[in-house]
Amino acid sequence: MKNRFIVVEGLDGSGKSTQIKMLKEYLESKGEKVFMTAEPSEGRIGKTLREMLSEDIPTDMYFQAGMFLADRIDHCTNPENGIKKMLEEGYTVISDRYYYSTFAYQGTKSDMDYIMKINLDCPAILRPDVCIFLDLNPEICKGRIDTNRGKTEMYEKNIEVMKSIRKNFLDVLNSLNDRENIKIINAEGSIEDIQKAIREAVEE
Ligand code: ADP
Ligand code: TYD
Repeated sequence: MKNRFIVVEGLDGSGKSTQIKMLKEYLESKGEKVFMTAEPSEGRIGKTLREMLSEDIPTDMYFQAGMFLADRIDHCTNPENGIKKMLEEGYTVISDRYYYSTFAYQGTKSDMDYIMKINLDCPAILRPDVCIFLDLNPEICKGRIDTNRGKTEMYEKNIEVMKSIRKNFLDVLNSLNDRENIKIINAEGSIEDIQKAIREAVEE
């Protein structure tokens, strides 16, 4: 089986990290080499983005989208552990978030066509083999964030914001459905049931 580039998307608190860790263990148990990564990345721009998000600094949406774009180019191309390099080395790469997040979080508050174009037409940005969206009620996500984390970031503070981001994700993913391999998974069940659905989507 060819190594793949898998993206997992969803609201904060939807269960992405939990599921990605389980998927990694599962694929490794079947003999695959797996590289787990995330956006914002661990690179220089990713670190600046994390600071901006955690300090909740108000910034222009094109500036934010541009920062996420630059971080994504670095994430794909950096010669040490960029996605391209890891795929070439035979790893299956699983990324916690990718350009779908930029569309849902920044695109809907600026010019979506432009934000999509600069990501989808950028030769340095890889297309995932599959995007798995963990769809979960924002109230549940918010409850988990408030219980589990000491501090909330820019997009986790307000339930209305989270509701609109979920809608944005669903609109954007539906609009991309003819061009991309997108699987929307109901993330309300048990951790094990969701993992089962993810494995089926990946194996398909
Ligand atoms: P994300 O990476 O999307 O922010 P996490 O995987 O960190 O989400 O999950 C957020 C919290 O919810 C964690 O405390 C995790 O243990 C819990 N959690 C994850 N999946 C489920 C589930 N299916 N049912 C109940 N709690 C869950
Ligand atoms: P992080 O703490 O990694 O998210 P999670 O709680 O899901 O583990 O923070 C990522 C934040 O960055 C999250 O609120 C979504 C936001 N984001 C964007 O706004 N645009 C993007 O393109 C990406 C990749 C993330």
